Amino acid sequence: MKICFVMYPWDKVEPETDSTLRLIHEAALRGHTVAITTPNNLTMRDSMAIGFCHVLKNKEVSSNIPSFYRKAEFKKAQLPLAGFDAIFMRANPPLDTMALNFLDSVRDHTFIMNDIDGLRVANNKLYTASLPDPNNEFIPVTHVSKNREYLERVLEESPNDRMILKPLNGYGGKGVILVEKSAKSSMKSLLDFYIGDDKNYVILQDYIEGAEQGDVRIMMLNGEPIGAMRRVPANGDVRSNIHAGGKEVKHTLTKQELRLCKHIGPKLVRDGLYFVGLDVINGKLVEVNVLSPGGITRINRLNRTKLQCEVIDFVESVVMAKKLSIARKNEFSKVIADATAY
Ligand SMILES: Nc1ncnc2c1ncn2[C@@H]1O[C@H](COP(=O)(O)OP(=O)(O)O)[C@@H](O)[C@H]1O
Ligand SMILES: [Mg+2]
Repeated sequence: MKICFVMYPWDKVEPETDSTLRLIHEAALRGHTVAITTPNNLTMRDSMAIGFCHVLKNKEVSSNIPSFYRKAEFKKAQLPLAGFDAIFMRANPPLDTMALNFLDSVRDHTFIMNDIDGLRVANNKLYTASLPDPNNEFIPVTHVSKNREYLERVLEESPNDRMILKPLNGYGGKGVILVEKSAKSSMKSLLDFYIGDDKNYVILQDYIEGAEQGDVRIMMLNGEPIGAMRRVPANGDVRSNIHAGGKEVKHTLTKQELRLCKHIGPKLVRDGLYFVGLDVINGKLVEVNVLSPGGITRINRLNRTKLQCEVIDFVESVVMAKKLSIARKNEFSKVIADATAY
């Protein structure tokens, strides 16, 4: 298989923890051709999307991942994206929508994970906020708006004393704060700050009880959970994100979490969101991470797994099915050509 990773620059990879590196390593171990590029290196030339890529040269692949990273050698090449069997979109948030426009032109030829339409609809938290859940069984009560009066009223009328305020397009825990009813007098100023010149939507969401014990990151592959960990926030912080100082601990999925996965899994697959990370607190979903979800390495360490094997297995099976279908089509076409050759 020929695989391209559209990702952050190679020198930004942290070899001990990086999830994309685990995927690249597994693909290389299996003998697949691996190329890497960044969104900034995509180019359109004469109706053809190309990537200024670095192609992995090493024939010997070390089983130790940090050592694989250090020894990796690349050859520069300008390659047509449509020639790849699979493209992993592993750039970090925020989403570069232009990168998706480049990938649009090759989507019929190449399996892209996650699907471009899926990335478009689910790259911010409005996707999670609009998932069907009439009884608030799986999604906390969530308001997404730019309307300051409305948001102030929501806080005032909330039956609970505390709510979470966060930017719609946030990531890594940035800007996630706890607001209490008693902080009503600061709300105007906070909303001015977050919404700005009517530029940004904000989320006001019920505070989920139990969040002090951390949240759970669940990795979903093709609609099924393949691994999870709990992230415990640093002392005095409301956010559990690893980038905000959270620490991972082992976690076994609860019945409620399994029900949540069952509830949302088929919708994720329908939307082309084959590999995502769910953020769940006390059985409630706060976020679906679709762009380069992380957690593979830490979950592997806690559970003695190699989630990257399952991910590459999945991509191989999709690509194989696509190749078989093209081969069959060609066969049938030949049958018709032969039968009508008179
Ligand atoms: N409704 C909530 N109740 C309690 N804690 C929350 C809530 N929403 C977010 N958090 C905390 O903040 C963290 C980051 O929030 P999240 O919605 O996942 O945004 P981000 O995209 O920044 O990761 C969560 O992992 C959790 O620890
Ligand atoms: Mg999150």
